Amino acid sequence: MDLFSAIKNRRSVRLFQDKSVPLEDLKKIVDAGRLAPSGYNLQKREFIIITDKSILLRLNDIQPVFDAGAAIAVIVEKTKYAIEDASAAVENILLAATALGYGSCWIEGTLIPHEKWAKELLGIPKEKKLFALIPIGVPLTSGEQAPKKRLEEITYLNLYGVKLPQSTQTND
Ligand SMILES: Cc1cc2nc3c(=O)[nH]c(=O)nc-3n(C[C@H](O)[C@H](O)[C@H](O)COP(=O)(O)O)c2cc1C
Repeated sequence: MDLFSAIKNRRSVRLFQDKSVPLEDLKKIVDAGRLAPSGYNLQKREFIIITDKSILLRLNDIQPVFDAGAAIAVIVEKTKYAIEDASAAVENILLAATALGYGSCWIEGTLIPHEKWAKELLGIPKEKKLFALIPIGVPLTSGEQAPKKRLEEITYLNLYGVKLPQSTQTND
């Protein structure tokens, strides 16, 4: 799948088939996270590939989206650009998972109140931040990305407020 198809096909998948995901695919997906940009190229990010069913089941206490074959935990050191560095890695991971035909979801909001508990569960050192969890698996149903604003509604040419000429609009 090419990059633009992956961007368009990516969607938040929260229900999965009870199918495992090969470790080789998971490594490819995490590798996309590894290659993401980071402030000063510090790369203070680490990942856990979670395939153990008993751990995945416990993660369902955060949000019931971990009936997936696997999950990826994104961990960052608390540096100046930690949020940006982690976010870049997460997006690359979501796109790579999509490109390989898997469903995924950025789980951060529901993780926040459970971060301490989840860090203990996963053995993550206290001083590091568990930024996001990403279930990866075969989607239970087909579906579409949540609707997005139209390009011309949010994009200007040269100066704020100047609309794009019709010919450069690329909504579909
Ligand atoms: C910073 C951030 C935090 C998110 N946290 C959660 C979450 O905790 N649980 C969840 O189900 N989805 C979460 N999402 C996914 C969004 O709900 C989803 O991306 C949005 O509704 C748009 O849908 P789409 O991914 O299909 O485009 C999060 C997304 C982002 C970017």
